[in-house]
Amino acid sequence: MTEELMRVGISLPSDLLEQFDMYIEKHGYTNRSEAVRDLIRRELNKETLSSKKEVFGTLTMLYDHHQTALSDNIMEIQHNHLKNVMATTHVHIDHDNCLEVVLIRGTSQDIEDISNRILALKGVKLGKVVMVGKDIP
Ligand code: NI
Repeated sequence: MTEELMRVGISLPSDLLEQFDMYIEKHGYTNRSEAVRDLIRRELNKETLSSKKEVFGTLTMLYDHHQTALSDNIMEIQHNHLKNVMATTHVHIDHDNCLEVVLIRGTSQDIEDISNRILALKGVKLGKVVMVGKDIP
């Protein structure tokens, strides 16, 4: 797909631009354009997540290896959502803790529902969901 770059000019108050340039430097951007593109993509992704479109997510969680039946319960929830749960990666990080990443597809509501069900289980200590749409230019 060829991508045509369009040039646009925008007007900003000087103090806003000054703070934006500090933001750019702090986040390691080498120019304003890429920083602006990423900010726009982030906002458009939020719009996608609030729609009914299919998006892709990861649930990252830390849980207690010794909690009775927890790994069975986590697996049971995944088996109940075969269309959504694509893969999991499990790492035994020490004697007591497991780190697991679950890759999930579906509407953002599907991903949140499945993730919340898992995160609510006793013994799951920490977790975070990240979601992205795929149609952002
Ligand atoms: Ni483990």
